[in-house]
Parts: sequence; structure tokens; C-alpha cells
Amino acid sequence: MSATTAEAGHSAGHIVSEAGVDAERDQALAVLEAFLPPHRGDSGDALVGSNLSIAFGGVKALQNVNITAPSKTFVGLLGPNGAGKSTCFDVLNGLKTPDSGTITMFGKDVTTMRPWDRAKLGMGRTFQANRLNHDLSVGENLLSAAHLAIKGNPITTLLGFGGPRKSEQRATEAAYAMCVLLGIKDHWHDRVSDLDFGRQRRIEIGRSLMCGPAIVLLDEPAAGLDADDAHALFALLRQLQRDLGLTIILVEHYVKAVLENADLVYVLNQGQLLASGSPAEVAADPVVRAEYLGSVLDLDETADVIEAPTLADEADEVIAEAEAEGVPAKQGSTENA
Ligand SMILES: Nc1ncnc2c1ncn2[C@@H]1O[C@H](COP(=O)(O)OP(=O)(O)OP(=O)(O)O)[C@@H](O)[C@H]1O
Ligand SMILES: [Mg+2]
Repeated sequence: MSATTAEAGHSAGHIVSEAGVDAERDQALAVLEAFLPPHRGDSGDALVGSNLSIAFGGVKALQNVNITAPSKTFVGLLGPNGAGKSTCFDVLNGLKTPDSGTITMFGKDVTTMRPWDRAKLGMGRTFQANRLNHDLSVGENLLSAAHLAIKGNPITTLLGFGGPRKSEQRATEAAYAMCVLLGIKDHWHDRVSDLDFGRQRRIEIGRSLMCGPAIVLLDEPAAGLDADDAHALFALLRQLQRDLGLTIILVEHYVKAVLENADLVYVLNQGQLLASGSPAEVAADPVVRAEYLGSVLDLDETADVIEAPTLADEADEVIAEAEAEGVPAKQGSTENA
């Protein structure tokens, strides 16, 4: 496999998985495994926020919030507008200092650590605003992130791997491998500005992964995507999470996708944790249904939530599945359906 052999492609419409990719995917994973820093904290909790509180003037954005992301799991953070989700990310990430509470990464207290020091310990983040260079190609965007990873990885730099040319070749191969995993290898030579929003989102995620994070915070990665592309993006994230052994914490208004893909779900409301548990437990929680899922349904006319009108049915399906699996649906769990 080589980036120079990548063919430019121009497939239209939704992103679909490419046929016959298994062997290529395995090879891409092997290339990335050799390139990225070794995994940290294979077991236990990757990220723990304990009793996090922060206020802006009179607004209590977070009140004694407890959130735990076990290592190598996919964690969803849900809640209505203004619930404190992005603030929670800012605090976990180090952009904002909590008024009280502690944060640990793989058991290490990082509460007072700056964002870039948390990044060195393996925390990555994507923002809602797109930070790609639109005039460069997909490959160039991924490659520039790979160069950052080389710079930031003293082991790779020290070992040298045979000098600058060899290191450049390794970076290119790693960037192309990421392009394969993202399902957009046919666009390696294409300019980012020529691609649709869904593919740009993938490149953005790929750029953050090129730095080899163990924990990734994703704030509304499916914002602006239609239902099909959002669905495909979530499936991709799930696969990347498993393949690369990542811990993903994700904020998303696209509730159905979170319930379908997450291992663990937290629901925030007005700065407080409303509920937490498996997707089935959270969807069946009467408080969540009364305080959050019910109001989400009322938002359908604002088109703020994709497929909002079908949410009640979907939540009911999740509950039915939960009951079939032996998770008791709590009293009143269907009152908002
Ligand atoms: N820098 C700030 N100064 C003042 N108030 C702030 C600041 N940042 C957030 N807030 C307030 O804190 C509360 C939580 O905001 P936050 O952005 O975390 O919500 P959110 O759950 O991410 O919402 P959304 O779904 O709309 O993105 C809101 O009331 C918001 O107005
Ligand atoms: Mg937000």
C-alpha cells in the first residue's frame, strides 16, 4: 500500500463502505499501530470527573457532576441545549478550570493540568468548528497531522527510523492508512473544499486520531449531517473505537445514534446529572423520558433534532429490547411515548 498509488475518485451521494476492504483495513491498522504511540491504560477507567462544579456568574453550568469513561468504551453525553455538555468537555479537557471537583486520566490527577499537557497524556478533542485546511488535499491535511504526531512523539523522533526520508515515508503511509480506515481513500488527492460535509467531518476526526490519542472527546460530530450520513459516521466511530482501542466520549443531539452505539450514556440537564447507565436503562428511565426525551419530541418543528418525530417509537423499541434482555423497565417508563 502506498499513498502514491491512491486513485482519485469522485463517487457521489452518501458515504458507503467500500467493498473488499477487510485485508486492506487490517494492513492499514498494522501500519497505524506501528506509527502511533503505544496504548496507555488498557484497563480501568480512562477518564473520571468527580463532583465537577462550575458557575458563570449566576449560571450553574455544572453542579456536582460525576462522569466516568471506562477504558476502551464509547460513552454518550446527552442533554438539551444549555445543559452543560460543552462546559463538561471544556472542564474535562482543561480549557476551563472547575470551581470544585477533580479529574483523573488513567488514575492520574490532571485537574490543574493545561489542555496541551492532557493531550500529551493521550487526550484528543474535536470541535464543532471545522479546522481543516480547505485548499489542501485530504492527504495533505492528514499528513500535516502525522507530522505533528512525529514532532510530539519523542520515541519516534529519537529513534529516527532511518532519517528524514524514511520518517516522511512512514508519515505518508500512516496518513494513507488513516484515510483507508476513514473510508475515504479514493479522495486522498482531492481538495477538501471539493468534498461534502460528511467527508470533511471524517477528515477532521482522522486528523485528531493521527496524534494517537487514547481518549477522544467529540462535540456534536454529526451536526449538520443528514440522517444517513450521521448514521454512517456513528458506525465509523464505533468501528474506529474498537479497532484503535479508543475511549470515546461524545456529545450529540442525535439521540437515536447515541442509544444505538454507546456502551454507557450520561444525561445532563441544567448542569445536573439526570441519569446514567446503559442505553436501554437510560431510555427506560422515567425521569429522562419526562425531562428530556419528551421535550426532544416537542422540538420536531424546529428541526433541531434529526428524526425527532420517531424518537418515541425508537425509545420504546430500546425499552422493549431491554425488557427482553431482562433489564426491568421502571414504573412510568412509557408515559411520554
Ligand atoms: N463562558 C460562558 N459564560 C457565561 N455563561 C456560559 C459560558 N459558557 C457556557 N455558559 C452557560 O452555561 C450553560 C451551559 O452551556 P453549555 O454550552 O455547556 O451547554 P450545552 O449543553 O453544550 O448546550 P448546546 O446543546 O446548546 O451546545 C448555559 O446556560 C450557557 O449559557
Ligand atoms: Mg454545546
